[in-house]
Amino acid sequence: MPLIAANWKMHKTIVESEAFCAALLPLIEDSDCEVVICPSFLAVPSVAELCAGTAVAVATQNMHFESQGAFTGEVSAPMLLDAGASAVILGHSERRQMFGETDEALARKVPAALEAGLTPILCCGETEEERDGDQTDRVLRRQIDAGLSRVADDRLADVVVAYEPIWAIGTGRTATPEQADDACGFIRALLGSRSESASARVRILYGGSVKPQNAAELLGQDEIDGALVGGASLDAEDFAAIVEAA
Ligand code: PGA
Repeated sequence: MPLIAANWKMHKTIVESEAFCAALLPLIEDSDCEVVICPSFLAVPSVAELCAGTAVAVATQNMHFESQGAFTGEVSAPMLLDAGASAVILGHSERRQMFGETDEALARKVPAALEAGLTPILCCGETEEERDGDQTDRVLRRQIDAGLSRVADDRLADVVVAYEPIWAIGTGRTATPEQADDACGFIRALLGSRSESASARVRILYGGSVKPQNAAELLGQDEIDGALVGGASLDAEDFAAIVEAA
């Protein structure tokens, strides 16, 4: 079953989030996709309440690896669960590039999410310079090895991985279906070197300028199990069209 996630980033107030859910839910009633909405922390309880009993789950866009403590401004996995989230995006490139998210912190965040009962959606992806310099595989290997370093082999398949080439995020420049499929296949092989059964079961999403117009082709690739959608997830009709295309 494809997994389509909406990463709202720093968009939508609580009222706007509620209005989106009211518009989206009837549009995707008959879909057999797993849908995840990642609103701001503040909108998690309302979105979770509105989506309860539907195929739509709620995730956040970050968390701290400790469950509590003196970490001003941070939010922990148990707090997210308590608010109604069941998953969390970790290591998004915007957090890596603008907020100092490190591979070392992610090595702690991914197992912390799993232990708390949240599904981690671990993001990875290369810059344009790295792709042009033929460094894509090296970068993906470093990010995946680090992010999953403290996850036991028998939990690997409980992680969702999102391949998001940085040059395709918010730029309107989508990876070609072949580029996206190759990178997702490479990530699957990395997991396969640790556990064959995990590599068969793990879900690998593509993200980066996914739109209603290109979703079917991207999602039709063998190695791509779903999409992480930014800009096009802010409009209920566009997002529903992506869910429909899956
Ligand atoms: P985009 O963002 O769809 O706007 O490119 C994707 C993401 O950052 O997750």
